Amino acid sequence: MSVRALGYAGFGVKDVAAWRSFAEDVLGVAVNEAANGGLRLRVDDSQWRIAIEPTGEDDVTYLGFEVEGPAALDELVAKLSAAGVAVERSEALAKERGVIGLARCTDPTGIGIELYWGPTETGQNRFVSKVGVAGFVTEGQGFGHVVLMAGDIGPSRNFYETLLGFRLSDVIDFSPMPGFEVRLVFLHCNPRHHTLALAPIPAPKRLNHFMLQVRDFDDVGRGLDRARKAGVTFANSLGKHTNDQMISFYLITPSGFEVEYGFGGREIDDATWVPSRHTATSTWGHERLVRPGG
Ligand SMILES: [Fe+2]
Repeated sequence: MSVRALGYAGFGVKDVAAWRSFAEDVLGVAVNEAANGGLRLRVDDSQWRIAIEPTGEDDVTYLGFEVEGPAALDELVAKLSAAGVAVERSEALAKERGVIGLARCTDPTGIGIELYWGPTETGQNRFVSKVGVAGFVTEGQGFGHVVLMAGDIGPSRNFYETLLGFRLSDVIDFSPMPGFEVRLVFLHCNPRHHTLALAPIPAPKRLNHFMLQVRDFDDVGRGLDRARKAGVTFANSLGKHTNDQMISFYLITPSGFEVEYGFGGREIDDATWVPSRHTATSTWGHERLVRPGG
């Protein structure tokens, strides 16, 4: 039994107004006001996918992982409890998130983990991008991926792989700076090549970046144009990743962590997939355009 998708995420931010224009005008997602003074971002016909909340951390505060239904939730709650993870069900939080059933715990780095089933779909209120993005790839794959940083990813690997049921996609061994070697670990829970990647790099923020995948390659180019015109700082130039073959660029969000905006990620069939090792993150491009930490 495992989670089936990254359904939503919560980002605690300092500057909600900056996020509003970044999300709507640069990323081309749809933005709704939330009751708590924050925003809810939509990328498809789900009611929301990313909550921007004015809590000031400028980091990810929670991740919502969808499970198949009530029996799957019961099973995961039992498994987590048996492993000594404190997990509690909350009807109030389920209502706030717009889902039918929900249980909450935390991952080893303190990120709130919400396991849920029965999200709200808004077929009567279709996703429309103000800047004309044709759509994002979410069907059966969740809203995108997140890359999390921790000095020691051992406990996180146990939590996500052994308890939540993520499977290894592949690893990338590389040297982000001379004399410093790291192994990035990529994990999947559906055909999306990775829903989660773990980087054994101590960092002030737990979230390195989140990724949105557009359906139309031209929307990568149009997004690049919009970001340039808006004066947004690029973290990485356009490039193609070795492992998931995504063609993407990276921007610095108003919270300092990054967003990857890409097209064409390769998909995994668990029946035939064999994990492999890569020694570079990209086959071309992805030139680093900012110094580490800023
Ligand atoms: Fe990524």
